[in-house]
Amino acid sequence: MVIVANRLPVHCADPGSGPVRWHPSPGGLASALRSVVQDPRMVWVGWTGRAGPVRSPLPVDGVTLAAVPLDSVDVQDYYNGFSNGTLWPLYHDIAARPDYDDRWWSRYAAVNERFASATSECAAPHATVWIHDYHLQLVPALLRARRPDLTIGFFSHIPFPPRDLFAQLPWREEILQGILGADLVGFQRHCDVEKFIRSCWDFSCRTISVLPTVSGQTRTLRFIDADAGSGESVSTEVRVGAFPISIDFALFGRRSQQRETRTRAQRTRDLLGSPTTVLLGVDRLDYTKGILHRLKAFEELLACGDLDPDRTVLVQVAVPSRDRIPDYRTHAEQVAAMVGRINGTHATAGHPVVHYTQRQHSPAELTALYLAADVLLVTSLRDGMNLVAKEYVASRHDEQGALVLSEFAGAADELTAAYLVNPHDLQDLRRTIHQAATSSVAERRRRMRILRQQVRSHTAHDWATEFLDTLRSVRGSTCSSS
Ligand code: UDP
Ligand code: G6P
Repeated sequence: MVIVANRLPVHCADPGSGPVRWHPSPGGLASALRSVVQDPRMVWVGWTGRAGPVRSPLPVDGVTLAAVPLDSVDVQDYYNGFSNGTLWPLYHDIAARPDYDDRWWSRYAAVNERFASATSECAAPHATVWIHDYHLQLVPALLRARRPDLTIGFFSHIPFPPRDLFAQLPWREEILQGILGADLVGFQRHCDVEKFIRSCWDFSCRTISVLPTVSGQTRTLRFIDADAGSGESVSTEVRVGAFPISIDFALFGRRSQQRETRTRAQRTRDLLGSPTTVLLGVDRLDYTKGILHRLKAFEELLACGDLDPDRTVLVQVAVPSRDRIPDYRTHAEQVAAMVGRINGTHATAGHPVVHYTQRQHSPAELTALYLAADVLLVTSLRDGMNLVAKEYVASRHDEQGALVLSEFAGAADELTAAYLVNPHDLQDLRRTIHQAATSSVAERRRRMRILRQQVRSHTAHDWATEFLDTLRSVRGSTCSSS
């Protein structure tokens, strides 16, 4: 099998003059896939995270890695530009303004060609290829044209936009055409499946029919195209379904029960000044995560006296992300300014109320933080899934801790026993954070038991197995008819 994603599971820090150092790649895609792809016979095609060639061997990390080189123009126009300056904001409900730039689009198409070619070279005859995320939406069709023998799956880790937003994209038809080269297209949520099908209806240049649902999990799209050579009509079927991603529940459970993790969690609380309530946020520093909304609600709760600054702290972990993009820089500055303002008003010497770190924490550090926190705040304005919410639940073997979860995160479809909130509604956010922070031990236990049962019953392994089993069973049939 071949995995294809923009990023390899590890990325390369800028070595300066010293030796090349490899680190786990940031984000949920890498975390989830790393936990299920552990076979050196598998190949993972992706980018090293660095512009230009990396002159050192790629590490072997349970899976064989194949690097696709990107130069600095690729990084600017394909990665920062079209992927994260056009598609990312458009697919996240225009949380920032998407830019539509022909040069970015050309480079996106060229880099997708390069990924298709690299994948074609390393895929064995009749191999299964699993392509991931919005950076590579053209790869399914490009690969299909080169290698009709392959079984091709595409999974989108991020939301699919509503029809009226997707309509803005000048290259909407080409994007749909690219994705529809796959045999199976997977999304996080059922609503994404519906939105994708609606856009296929309205914007695909091909004759399309949606077949009646046979199994609950997938829908079938049938296309009738004219074959360029023979002129005969050709029918192709593509399956589309929801496959919510998850985490390695057992791994987080084991890690959180280790003595050193529990000691670390206790030490963290001590270092924070033994507050009554520890609130926690863990996010990439991304404007879609609603960090500013959360800080505003926290600030107002302190100002009105509903939370006591002497007995409450907020720990905010922010992983630096995409910091060459102006909207990300502005957002990072706004977050830092707001943290400064809250501490300036409510901290006392040596006792900040917001503890803010801007670096990627190791899984061991994160698990200790999950155990130390009374409330986890997930306030995304739009989020494909949000694995942090599930990791928090899996770490709470003590059945304590409360989860405040945005209804705009994919995880809200499953984790309905969380304190669900609309982060755009400041009153609701304040009320819900306060309710979670002051909830009784019994109420936390009641909710956490339900949440743990939910996360335990559908792990990352189940996600991958369901997608791949479905893919192998639905290998698209392409047949000629007169
Ligand atoms: N993560 C990490 N170190 C950190 C913060 C986050 O390893 O300091 C991991 C976290 O454990 C999770 C992933 O990054 O697996 C974030 O995934 P999520 O789906 O929540 O958000 P994304 O970053 O993909 O938008
Ligand atoms: C999200 C995306 C991933 C991406 C990750 C980190 O999870 O769905 O495709 O890898 O964010 O973002 P980055 O731009 O650093 O790869």
